[in-house]
Amino acid sequence: MEHDGRISALGGPFIELASVASTNKTAAELLRLSKLRHGAVILAHEQTAGRGQRGRQWISAPGRDLALSIVVAPPALRADGQFVLAKLAALAVHDTVASLLPGEVRIKWPNDVLVERRKVAGILIENELAGERVAWSIIGIGLNVNSTDLAEELTATSLALEQGGEVDRMAVLEVLLQRFKELWEAWSAGSGQWEAAYTERLWSRGRWADLVLDGQPVQGRPVDVDEQGRLLVEMPGGGVGAFALDRLRFAPR
Ligand code: BTN
Repeated sequence: MEHDGRISALGGPFIELASVASTNKTAAELLRLSKLRHGAVILAHEQTAGRGQRGRQWISAPGRDLALSIVVAPPALRADGQFVLAKLAALAVHDTVASLLPGEVRIKWPNDVLVERRKVAGILIENELAGERVAWSIIGIGLNVNSTDLAEELTATSLALEQGGEVDRMAVLEVLLQRFKELWEAWSAGSGQWEAAYTERLWSRGRWADLVLDGQPVQGRPVDVDEQGRLLVEMPGGGVGAFALDRLRFAPR
C-alpha cells in the first residue's frame, strides 16, 4: 500500500485511509508483507468491522471519532512482559483525555479509559511474537471524540459530550501521538518512573469494587497491576491476590 510520505510523530509512516475493515487488521496485513516499520500509524476515517476486546465489535462514528493503530517494534521485550505496552498505551490515552477535560479520568484495567464512570476509549493490542520476544506490537486505539449518539447500555461518552461542543480530532491525535512518543522513549531508555502514574490512575484503586472472580461475585480492592498484567486485588480477608483476565473482571454496571 502506498502512502503520501507523511511521517508520524513516532518516526514511521503516517498512513491515512478513508475506510477499512479494521486498522489493526490492515496493520497486520502490511506487517506480513514487510511494508511497515517501527513508528507507523494507520488512521482510518471509517472502520467497517472495528474490533474490540474479547471478540466484541468496536463502533466509531465515521469522520468524527478516532480509530488508529500504532505499530511498534519493542527493543528486546520478553513475551511475558508484554503488558507494559498496554500500560504505555493506556497512560498515553489517559493523559490525552485528561489534558482536555476537567473531570476525573481513569484507566480501567486492563485498558479502558473512563471519564467518571463512562468509557471514552478502548485499546486492543495485538502482538506478534518471535520466540520469547515481542517482535511487533499493533496498538489499536478507539477514542470517542465527536460521537453523540452512544447507546445507553454501553455506558460510554465522548470528548464532545463531556466538553459540550465539537472537538478537533486531528489535534487530539497529535497530542496522543506526542504523549505516546514521550512515554515510549522513557520506557525504552529504561525509565520506570512513568509507571507510578499508571498505577495512580487505576480505576477503583484503593476502593472496594464489585468484581467477578471465577464466575462468582466478590468484593475486592484493586491495588496495582503486576508485570504479567494481572490485577493485584486486596480481598476482604486481608490477603492480596493476582488475577488475570481469564479469572477476574469488574462486575457489569
Ligand atoms: C475495546 O474493546 O475497548 C477495544 C477497542 C479498540 C478499538 C480500536 S479502533 C482502532 C483499532 N482497530 C480495531 O479494529 N480496533 C482498534
